[in-house]
Amino acid sequence: MRLLIKNIKKLVQTEEVIRDKVSGADMSKLNSIDNAYLFIKNGLIDDFGTMDKLPIELQREQSDYKVIDASGKMVFPSFADSHTHLVYAGSREIEYIDKIKGLTYEEIAKRGGGILNSSKKLHQASEDELYEQAMPRINEIMLQGTGAVEIKSGYGLNTQDEIKMLRVIKRIKETSHLQVKANFLGAHAVPAEYKGNQTQYVDLIINEMIPQVAAEELADFVDVFCDEGFFTVEDTERILMAGIKHGLRPKIHANELANSGGVQVGVKYNALSVDHLEFIEDAEIEALLNSPTMPTILPGAAFFLGLRYSPARKMIDAGLPVAIASDFNPGSSPSGNMQFMQSLGCINYKLLPEEVINATTINTAYAMGSSDKVGSIARGKIANVFITKQIPTIEFLPYSYGSDLIETVILKGKYIYDKRMDF
Ligand code: NIG
Ligand code: FE
Repeated sequence: MRLLIKNIKKLVQTEEVIRDKVSGADMSKLNSIDNAYLFIKNGLIDDFGTMDKLPIELQREQSDYKVIDASGKMVFPSFADSHTHLVYAGSREIEYIDKIKGLTYEEIAKRGGGILNSSKKLHQASEDELYEQAMPRINEIMLQGTGAVEIKSGYGLNTQDEIKMLRVIKRIKETSHLQVKANFLGAHAVPAEYKGNQTQYVDLIINEMIPQVAAEELADFVDVFCDEGFFTVEDTERILMAGIKHGLRPKIHANELANSGGVQVGVKYNALSVDHLEFIEDAEIEALLNSPTMPTILPGAAFFLGLRYSPARKMIDAGLPVAIASDFNPGSSPSGNMQFMQSLGCINYKLLPEEVINATTINTAYAMGSSDKVGSIARGKIANVFITKQIPTIEFLPYSYGSDLIETVILKGKYIYDKRMDF
């Protein structure tokens, strides 16, 4: 299918040369083209430019390609959401009440709530049920502008159930319009039956889970919740080494609850990203500088749990790149709305609109190993874009928190959704 989008008020995040990530002062710069066209062919971005340069063959009325007139509207690359746990069973709004009444995330976890609560529910759900429960979430984030998503396991916490989760993720990859990457997070929490025997559980992950996950080619990445009360730096090192041996690149949860050493261990093992980062000091910033590891903040989790905010402003000012992902999960961020994550990035982390746009597109694409395929408007990239409603400026997007400003969703060059009345 071929598709021409013309008279675009602003075509945002264009690149003549594909960059893998955007760092430091460059994060406040955004390339865009006013009064633009975008031509999509075979699911890929074929060409774009200003309307006065519209190629002659695209100026004629033709029937062999569709035309959308985007007058007054903007076109953005779809969001890449590089950190989610969106395959889960049931929900945890009852813990939300506990939270409102004053219990902390750790206190809820200690009472058998939290991750272990989701684990219990997941244990009882079949693969089909899990898939059926996850797909509405996939469809929801698609309509909210997400075009690529990383999904973690981590509610199985035994070999069989971790594999079950990863098979569901594989099925989502095969059946949805999204670009999907899978992350094996066996080390999300210590299951109840291993309480007091954490090392034995780590052994199980290393000796049984990782080899099986790799043999079935079910994951792209390996993850560990390296934090106070969860897995230690030593546990993390052992798991990352085993994952790397089986071809899984690390992407880890670090420094959410304490200065856990997670950032340093992530950098040491060439992690693609370290995520959360509420507890960051100069030493962590130093470790991240000149490393290939993408610092990723999860503003939804900090908002929902009332955590301290990661010093994202300081990280960018120090020259680092920063990515923003949703952390969509039932316990600490029950939303995958990336436009809202942008708003939180601006309001709570003092990032500029250009910075949060870079942080939710190119930099998250990098953090899921996909910056050659998605994350910007560049020739040859997958045609994952959304067309906004009529909006005055790019700043209007993070500014209008809670408003749905997306009118048309195009993934892999196909129309997925169109909210225009005349469609
Ligand atoms: O990224 N921090 C650890 N894990 C998830 C929470 C998962 C849950 O509570 O179910 C997170 O916030
Ligand atoms: Fe997470």
